[in-house]
Amino acid sequence: MKLTFIGTGYVGLVSGVCFSEIGNQVTCVDKDLDKVERLKKGEVPIYEPGLQELIEKNTKLGNLEFTSDLTASVREADIVFICVGTPSLPSGEANLEYVEQVAQDIALAMNGYKIVITKSTVPVGTNDKIKQIISQLSPHNFDVVSIPEFLREGSAVKDTLNPDRIIIGTSSERAAATLTELHKPLTDEIMVTEVRSAEMIKYASNAFLATKISFINEIANICEKVGADVTNVAKGMGYDKRIGSSFLQAGIGYGGSCFPKDTHALIQIAGNVDYEFKLLKSVVEVNNDQRFNIIAKLNHSLGDLQGKTVGIWGLAFKPNTDDVREAPALDIIKTLLEQGAVVKAYDPIATDNFRRFFRGEADVQWCDSAMETAESCDALCLLTDWSEFKEVDLQQLNGVMKQPVLIDGRNVYSREQLAETTFQYYSIGRPELESLSPFRNSVASD
Ligand code: UDX
Repeated sequence: MKLTFIGTGYVGLVSGVCFSEIGNQVTCVDKDLDKVERLKKGEVPIYEPGLQELIEKNTKLGNLEFTSDLTASVREADIVFICVGTPSLPSGEANLEYVEQVAQDIALAMNGYKIVITKSTVPVGTNDKIKQIISQLSPHNFDVVSIPEFLREGSAVKDTLNPDRIIIGTSSERAAATLTELHKPLTDEIMVTEVRSAEMIKYASNAFLATKISFINEIANICEKVGADVTNVAKGMGYDKRIGSSFLQAGIGYGGSCFPKDTHALIQIAGNVDYEFKLLKSVVEVNNDQRFNIIAKLNHSLGDLQGKTVGIWGLAFKPNTDDVREAPALDIIKTLLEQGAVVKAYDPIATDNFRRFFRGEADVQWCDSAMETAESCDALCLLTDWSEFKEVDLQQLNGVMKQPVLIDGRNVYSREQLAETTFQYYSIGRPELESLSPFRNSVASD
């Protein structure tokens, strides 16, 4: 089939490339001319394992092309995907300006029946609005369908080619049949439902996953006080199929481009119909607080941070991505600088993005390796669970630091790894591991 994807952000680019990989003729459109030119040359604007190779392969095969000509690509397509951003407004609501503009552009370009799909995460009712916009501007037949996207950054290609499910929100039998056919090579788990339910499934899924994370983080905080180990608690809970074992990894909370934005938007969607989503409000509050556990542990260990050197391992909101949006590292480094600490920071790939995002960067020493970051530090904080940090030689690390204070915000180190070290070790919800430390209860003076 001939497909056009409008917007070459995460969702548009990865989806477009993956649909070309399964044999469709795909055009990816973006109004950013520079980005289009770079994509044509094979330069990929995001770090995503496997994406570059698929772009090169399918461009060569002639299955995939990039353009800024929206009109021509809509005219040629059977199916048009809207994949533009829906950033948060100051109120928390999704900003639909770009989606609505694209709907107008599509309407004016249409030359016959088209299926218009919304992949962007949009509030319930938006697809009806898009339908209205197009019908006012175009005489042609069309169907507007909601197909929410569930890909994760860092495994976006894999997720798109092997999805858990495809949700098709439409009341049109014609569109449902075509889209079931299109998605069949990806999975058999295809659910056709009403448009508004499809829109809600996306928000409810992300809100539920965020809830699991905040829930386990609160359990971790309690574990620290009652002497239980949250990793064992999560494991024990996960055996229950009704609970499931995923998304129960305690740490310093979620970040990224989706959970923070979508939880705020759902609170707002509920508020707009006079419903207070109390549970989700707490989930957000717990998440905002959780990152500051790092600061509390530092203060417990070092006392006043003025003039102390603190190393930061990991700036991305999670491993295998260079995305730093809503990354806990932003708040943590800001607070450290406010408290007068000298900050050294390193990330395997996200440092450049972080520096662009972060104000006050002149005060941070950006390092080129994990060990260089740790040298002469009074404490080291692991904020992102990159495998590079998991595999580090802890004895060597122990040797290069000024004071052996290790704060593990993602619970990556085991009892065995720590056994031969003299670290004053802190993690999240594992008090027994912390008590292994010889200096656990002393507050260092220098
Ligand atoms: C998420 C959803 O998983 C995806 O379905 C949706 O389409 C977009 O939002 P993403 O933001 O890429 O994907 O990352 P994800 O892997 O879900 O992690 C989100 C955040 O939660 C990260 O900061 C991660 O560190 C944190 N997390 C995740 C935990 O703290 N504990 C966990 O157990 C899982």
